[in-house]
Amino acid sequence: MTPEISLTPSTRHARHGSNIGQPLTRRDGILKVKGEAPYAADRHHPGMLYAVIATSQIARGRVTSLDIAAAKAHPGVVDVMTSTHKPQLAEDPDAKLHPFMFRMELLQNDTVRYANQAIAVVIAETLEAATEGALLLAPKYEVLAARVGLDSNESFVPPAIGIGNPSVIERGDVEAGLAAASKRIDATFETPPQYHNAMEPHAIVAAWDGDTLSIDTPSQGMAMAVGRIAGLFGIAPDKIHIRSPFLGGGFGSKGLISGPQILGIMAARLVGKPVKLVLRRDQMYGPVGHRAPTRQRLRVGADGEGRLTALDHYAKTTTSTFDDFFEPAADASHTLYASPAIKTSHEAIRVDTGTPLFMRAPGEATGSIALESAIDEMAWACGTDPLAFRIKNYADVEPISGKPFSSKALRECYTKGAERFGWSKRILAPRKMRDDDGFLVGWGVGTATFPALMFQAAARAVIKRDGSGVMEIGAHDMGQGAWTALVQIAADGLGLDLDRVEFKSGSSDLPDAGIAGGSAHTATAGMAIHNAGAAVIAKLGELATSDERSPLFGAGNAGVIARDGRLFRRDDEGRSDSYADILARAGLVEIDASGTGATNPAAQAEYAMHAHGAVFVEVKVDPDLGQVRVTRAVGAFAAGRIVNPHLVRSQLFGGMIWGVSFALHEEAVMDHRSGRIMNANLAEYHVPVNADVPSLDVLLIDEHDPHVNALGIKGVGEIGVTGSAGAVANAVWHATGVRARRFPIRIEDLVTGEGVR
Ligand code: MOS
Repeated sequence: MTPEISLTPSTRHARHGSNIGQPLTRRDGILKVKGEAPYAADRHHPGMLYAVIATSQIARGRVTSLDIAAAKAHPGVVDVMTSTHKPQLAEDPDAKLHPFMFRMELLQNDTVRYANQAIAVVIAETLEAATEGALLLAPKYEVLAARVGLDSNESFVPPAIGIGNPSVIERGDVEAGLAAASKRIDATFETPPQYHNAMEPHAIVAAWDGDTLSIDTPSQGMAMAVGRIAGLFGIAPDKIHIRSPFLGGGFGSKGLISGPQILGIMAARLVGKPVKLVLRRDQMYGPVGHRAPTRQRLRVGADGEGRLTALDHYAKTTTSTFDDFFEPAADASHTLYASPAIKTSHEAIRVDTGTPLFMRAPGEATGSIALESAIDEMAWACGTDPLAFRIKNYADVEPISGKPFSSKALRECYTKGAERFGWSKRILAPRKMRDDDGFLVGWGVGTATFPALMFQAAARAVIKRDGSGVMEIGAHDMGQGAWTALVQIAADGLGLDLDRVEFKSGSSDLPDAGIAGGSAHTATAGMAIHNAGAAVIAKLGELATSDERSPLFGAGNAGVIARDGRLFRRDDEGRSDSYADILARAGLVEIDASGTGATNPAAQAEYAMHAHGAVFVEVKVDPDLGQVRVTRAVGAFAAGRIVNPHLVRSQLFGGMIWGVSFALHEEAVMDHRSGRIMNANLAEYHVPVNADVPSLDVLLIDEHDPHVNALGIKGVGEIGVTGSAGAVANAVWHATGVRARRFPIRIEDLVTGEGVR
């Protein structure tokens, strides 16, 4: 059964021409405000038990004993799942059959690979009993020295970075370009480990009925999760049903099903009852992915005219001791600035942490804060305004591939954003601007870019006898607004008013919508919906034009258009037929068709596809205390066709706030002795709160991209963080004259000049 989601129509749902492009309020908004939107952990089955994971206090070694008797003796505790007492799995959790398959800790042995790894699961009648039982396990360990941080192990060149990108790419001769340069920058930056910290922790309610498995869990990719679960438990995928109507954020950490979620399913199998398992906030620092730290060296050369001659971007990062994910930070230098010589290279070390994962523009976010800082530094070395320097040096064809862009409206992003911000009043030199209270004022700019990706999706469209439509797709709403934007695309595809479309989503028994990641969900799922709509309309057209009783008889399939529940003759709109009449005459209860969405390999071979933007930031810095406040930010973005400007703006705001967060707040602090994270909670892992977020302004720059897909949709989920983080750092330099070399920017680096003045 798919979840019953009663989306609320709002007065703004009145349709003005096309549904696509309308600033509809989110249709799940009222449900959420009233607390009625069902999240995974809200599910309650009769007789359901509660599972709590006991996690390792050490980062490396072995569990030598657990006091299982003590835990079991606790009232309410039903069972304790351990490496020697657990359901048999059909597949090794350490198997890696494809790059998207990540190794998991499913109690396969007594080895500890990182702090916060699961070492047992206590199952009890209440959450309290399970929690208490987990505490009573009092684990003992054989402890080995933990290796964390960027210098704790031997480095190597990863075989591939990100998802299958080459570690090292060089185009042109970087050393020659640097040698020929009249200005050179050589700067090293560090970015910290960051954790996704979605508001909703990873949660699962699992219920087995024989070999049939019913699951409530947040997922950015239900179909892949079904496949992984099927493999691990040796059951057919069609025996597994996941409901995931809403996610309280994902940021990449819910793209693949995680170890703790699988442990919940194992626990339910073990006790033969439904089980709920919800990670505690501190338990999210380890088994569900993170953004690895980086150290990046940028060497940049420019000639006497202020044009780049060389760009060398090197990034070192970490992965776990047992699996591979390498933050592709240097690849941020592939697509933006027109240097005749570009080299990007990566190295990595293995550390005793959980495996890193995609997180909020993986690679682009980390890489662009370093790149934008170095570009800014070069602009200053050349005595040029940093915006003018960027406009002079941005590329007209993608530098690394030599391909033309499918579309690029970056110049307008620069000029319109600058105008809105008031950039022309900027004084070139740092430390020259003050406000009335004596605070140092700094203005910074950063370029935003993110690839326009697509994955694969399918959708099923139905026209019913009453003339209404149904669109089915197992899409994922992480808060970005899929319940609204995708319905807008569906309504246009079906030629119906929004309120005549029943939209079924958020469930694995619906067609696979592909992964909601890589900022590709609206384009991918949207194209499947669009094509399914077109296919069912084509069928309907065939019925009508071949039916003598229809006003459309003989019009030919290509000769009709769909609108307002009717088909019209294209050459004579006075002749039309309603969906309901067409089906009634054909004696059909309904008619359906499927459609798919996917990348177009031919277009991809020819064009480089990216969204672009420019972000302008104002900071104020206390000249004595070094305290930094972002006071204003303007982002101008060109991201193809905007399905819903209201939701898109909201996503871009979110991305810009991640940028503020990256530059000034977020950092997981490692204890290098124990290998544990010292701030594994939302009190000490800083993220911006309302008081940290200034007035934000987003400009949507018109862009028609005829190549990305038939609808012209690019993504907006992640581009907001790129550019923004660098713009904050550059604004801090402009205010203080101090170049931040490590992030988040620290007060002590500003007051002591630990950055570079
Ligand atoms: Mo995103 S990091 O692709 O969910």
